[in-house]
Amino acid sequence: MNWLRDRLFPIKATLLSKVAVRFSGRRSNRAPSGLDILLLALAWGNLGYAAGLSYLRHVGGHVVRSQGAILECGSGATTLLVAMLCRSTDRQFIVLEHNKTWHDHLQRILDYLGFSHVTLIHAPLVDYEGYRWYRIPRDLLIDKIALVVCDGPPSSNPGGRYGLLPTMIDHLAGDCTILMDDTHRRAEQHIIDAWTECRCVKASRIGRFGTHAEVVFC
Ligand SMILES: C[S@@+](CC[C@H](N)C(=O)[O-])C[C@H]1O[C@@H](n2cnc3c(N)ncnc32)[C@H](O)[C@@H]1O
Repeated sequence: MNWLRDRLFPIKATLLSKVAVRFSGRRSNRAPSGLDILLLALAWGNLGYAAGLSYLRHVGGHVVRSQGAILECGSGATTLLVAMLCRSTDRQFIVLEHNKTWHDHLQRILDYLGFSHVTLIHAPLVDYEGYRWYRIPRDLLIDKIALVVCDGPPSSNPGGRYGLLPTMIDHLAGDCTILMDDTHRRAEQHIIDAWTECRCVKASRIGRFGTHAEVVFC
């Protein structure tokens, strides 16, 4: 499939650059419209892995309403969306991606689009106490995180997305919002329940079938 990805790269990159121009024409405090999101999703493709339209819209709305650093776990359509919305700001945007091939593909697209404001980190999954999560570089300088886009690592990884809270707790602002995708799945619901053992959290499920959730500290 990598050869197909390479063959399609020029088309994908051109379409995404047109979407980026459209995003740069909007007022910075305006949430992206349904059409903006749809065009981004169509240009990006990657069906089966990419976040759904409802989650993308939700993420877009939170990005324009919040201030401060953004952390993303699991890269793809959401990375491009946040990058397009933060382009003319000085917000820190850090993305963790465990898969080297996928990381390199996305970095190539970010380079093509001139999105040097995105820090995309190849962070392999490593063992912590009782779970696996991204390896955080020792020298990572990160401000207090205001918003987390939590769409990785994959649920096939022991602990799935659980590691976010125990690993990053000291970096999360008190009023941080975690946007968790796929909360229609039992595994993600269990992860939110398990987080309450680290810290008191309140979760509201959103989307037609509760497919994603907004998690905040109590
Ligand atoms: C649910 S996906 C992340 C989706 C991302 N937030 C988005 O909106 O596109 C979780 C992980 O799947 C992997 N992934 C995404 N697309 C892939 C593909 N086409 N083939 C293989 N792995 C992929 C990446 O490692 C990614 O971090």
